[in-house]
Amino acid sequence: MARIPVLPDAKQAPFLIIGSGIAGLYTALKLSEIGPVVLLTKDHLEESNTTYAQGGIAAAIDPQDSPTLHYEDTMRVGVGLCLPDAVSVLVHEGPSRVRELMSYGVPFDLLEGEPALTKEAAHSRRRILHADGDATGREISRSLAHHVIANPRITVFEEAMVISLLMNAGTCVGVLALMDDGELQTFAAGATILCTGGCGQVYAASTNPPVATGDGIALAYAAGAAISNMEFVQFHPTALFSPPAPRFLISETVRGEGGLLRNTRGERFMPGYHELAELAPRDVVARSILKEMERTHAEHVVLDLSALTAEQIKNRFPNIYETCLQYGLDITGQAIPVAPAAHYLMGGIYTDLYGRTTLPGLFACGETSDPGVHGANRLASNSLLEGLVFGHRITEYLQEHPVQTQTISTDTKVHIHQETSPDTINSDRRLLKEIMSAQMAIVRHGKGLNEALNALSEIAADAPLCLDPSYLELQHLRIVARLMIRAAQLRTESRGSHFREDFPLPNPDWKCRIIIQGDQVAYQPVPDWQETEN
Ligand code: SIN
Repeated sequence: MARIPVLPDAKQAPFLIIGSGIAGLYTALKLSEIGPVVLLTKDHLEESNTTYAQGGIAAAIDPQDSPTLHYEDTMRVGVGLCLPDAVSVLVHEGPSRVRELMSYGVPFDLLEGEPALTKEAAHSRRRILHADGDATGREISRSLAHHVIANPRITVFEEAMVISLLMNAGTCVGVLALMDDGELQTFAAGATILCTGGCGQVYAASTNPPVATGDGIALAYAAGAAISNMEFVQFHPTALFSPPAPRFLISETVRGEGGLLRNTRGERFMPGYHELAELAPRDVVARSILKEMERTHAEHVVLDLSALTAEQIKNRFPNIYETCLQYGLDITGQAIPVAPAAHYLMGGIYTDLYGRTTLPGLFACGETSDPGVHGANRLASNSLLEGLVFGHRITEYLQEHPVQTQTISTDTKVHIHQETSPDTINSDRRLLKEIMSAQMAIVRHGKGLNEALNALSEIAADAPLCLDPSYLELQHLRIVARLMIRAAQLRTESRGSHFREDFPLPNPDWKCRIIIQGDQVAYQPVPDWQETEN
């Protein structure tokens, strides 16, 4: 253990953004209109979950659609746990934010001069905008990153990993980061905004890139912030299953455009499970696929695209077509083998409608946050929208409530743990994924959850800080995994994406959010929604 007695002088950052998905990039651009911004990202500017988003971004922009219909679809899919006020904000402010994306040059696909709209599960209207067919996230990242790089009021540090939030008398005053040259650097901020994305890497099979290690949630929890709804993890029903190919996402829009699910015996099964068949809510489709896999003793089902011509497939899904081809699968003639994979965390850092966490000075936005819009299950393509809407609201709040950059004492002591071996880190990471995939996936059981929590305690005993990003990520994954299991143990019912074999039915007594802050647990009742919209 080494001790660094004195930290380098802090860099000043009135607005400090951590992360560079849609929430981080867009919020940086908006905040730059009111003051200088520093943006830290642990990889490269365009490497985030956003870049891998395919289907698109949902907004009620069609004359046949309305925010009220979008609201109802979102609330229905959230199975009683969406906060009505938060969803109302999302759907009413969403269309203006999406138009703003167009003004940043995002090349949404057009039909007769207007954005082309597609359909995804549980949407009552075609309301999903997309770009380059099925590369919507990549195009959004590219356009926003281009503006961020060109903006003289935004300073970007890539390969800068935050290892701790800096607190002063309960207020977040900035961060300590490990920079690309291996040195530590402090950043003093008036407002620190965590936009660090999700945590799909707690699972062995995920559609998320390797950077999705729940960093923001772990950092905020360690600093004392409240964290909510961590039991709710969305498994995408259709990720490519063709080992050794990665679990590449096969967008729900493929089903929206006519793709059908069949078991390995060739039987179409979704109509037997839900009236919306292939376009039932994601949790329903994922569990149905699992049942069919068990029934047919198969490791996957298939997505049959025979309703689409080769031309339609190549034009509408160029990214999926090319990627599958790379792994030897020509989807213009072959069905795609698919199975569910971890995709999205509905819970996260508890925030209000202005992205404020329970810690003064600390805000959160995007997948890392939980303002209450997704409840027990997220409506497809609401996630990119969330990053925009709440990034805008954080900016509005900070415009009305100016912040002062805080002072950071340079004699802060930092303990550095240096005795890590890459082999241990890799094997611990594998073990964590095995535990979570076995006990905390689509189907859970109280006994398995207890075993999982015990097994996790064997992994990576707490070290104060460490100069190895992969060790830091392992610590973050461990903190997040524990939070997920604790919440899943507490929720003794099944609702949305949280399915407990030992409590297979929803229970009205559990119409509440589970909020964890340190050792404390609070239960926040969720109001009924029929009465509150409009
Ligand atoms: C997809 O394209 O299926 C993913 C969209 C989403 O997760 O919202």
